[in-house]
Amino acid sequence: MGGPFKATRVTDHVYWVGAIDWSLREFHGHLTSRGTTYNAYLILADKITLVDTVKSHFKEEMLSRISSVIDPGDITYIISNHSEMDHSGCLPEVIQAVKPEKVFASAMGASALAEHFRLGQEIVAVKDGESISLGNMNLSFMETRMLHWPDSMFTHLAEDGVLFSQDVFSMHLASTERFDDEIDDHILEDEAAKYFANILLPLSTPVARLLEKVGGLDIVKGIVATDHGPIWRKDASKILGLYSKWAAQKPTKKAVVVYDTMYESTAAMARAIGEGIRAGGADAKLLPLRACHRTDVATEMLDAGALLVGSPTFNNNIFPTVADALTYLKGLKPRNLVGAAFGSYGWSGEAVGQLEDVLRGMKVELVGEGVKAKYVPDDEALAQCHSLGVLVAERLKELCE
Ligand code: FEO
Repeated sequence: MGGPFKATRVTDHVYWVGAIDWSLREFHGHLTSRGTTYNAYLILADKITLVDTVKSHFKEEMLSRISSVIDPGDITYIISNHSEMDHSGCLPEVIQAVKPEKVFASAMGASALAEHFRLGQEIVAVKDGESISLGNMNLSFMETRMLHWPDSMFTHLAEDGVLFSQDVFSMHLASTERFDDEIDDHILEDEAAKYFANILLPLSTPVARLLEKVGGLDIVKGIVATDHGPIWRKDASKILGLYSKWAAQKPTKKAVVVYDTMYESTAAMARAIGEGIRAGGADAKLLPLRACHRTDVATEMLDAGALLVGSPTFNNNIFPTVADALTYLKGLKPRNLVGAAFGSYGWSGEAVGQLEDVLRGMKVELVGEGVKAKYVPDDEALAQCHSLGVLVAERLKELCE
């Protein structure tokens, strides 16, 4: 059928009918430098089923892709795996256009959809482990609460070996390629890491529980059809392995030093600390906030064992960019970290103590005294910074042995 937007065949019965968002550069506070996709899937069973939809302004693109395979009016069922509006935004209009027999979601999904929209159609709530018949095939459901919303669930099509995993195992990556084996491994890992660090990190415990539950099951041995980015058809074990590593948050010998500076004093302290970390036998990654976004800080923390934060005292407070990054990181609840604070000041010097309070609140084990330097760090202050770096490295080595 006509139109530029075509469906992509995934299996004999499953087609990708989503939308590519080439321009998205921000998602809930983190950068999405490669854009994203909103994946929706069509199952050509006796009862034709649409799994998830797309952001509202991509509705026509999705309907056009569906039309390249079937008449959208032939859709009998719609499954909503996740009620967030990047997957449900056009659901009310699609329901109106398609008039499906039934729309299914988890019990919490049914409530969330009713609270988002005036759908004009009751949502059928399905339970964890429940199955529905599509005539010649069956779909089964698995609740994945808090991954990453309370309503989230997986849907499994056993006959074709496809797991529809919504946001889990996703990444923000716009591309004309639809499958993992068509994209460079380093891009897959970079974007999956960024996605995990900036969205799923605070949910590491439910992620670990989910992996335990599904790790040995056939459902993750076939095709994993996510809601963003590529479909895992070649090697879903790759993303499962990465999730397992990231969710464990084991200490490593890598220290992240995040800071901003007004007249290069706090920057000089950061560099001296970095040299100390290296001299002590650990790896240092310096992230000046003039050059790095909070997204990069979160992503670098994914495999770090230490967080050192530097801020000049500004109006008796932490410098705004540092406060921003630290507030963001705090919300992501990184675990198993050691750390320290440092910074320059002119007359009052509150920032270092305030940073230490925030780090304590994040359950970061403080290593050594925070270092303060008045106006411009002299040799003694820089030596203190170097020593702090060595201390952090030694503590990391102890923890990693
Ligand atoms: Fe992709 Fe939680 O939405």
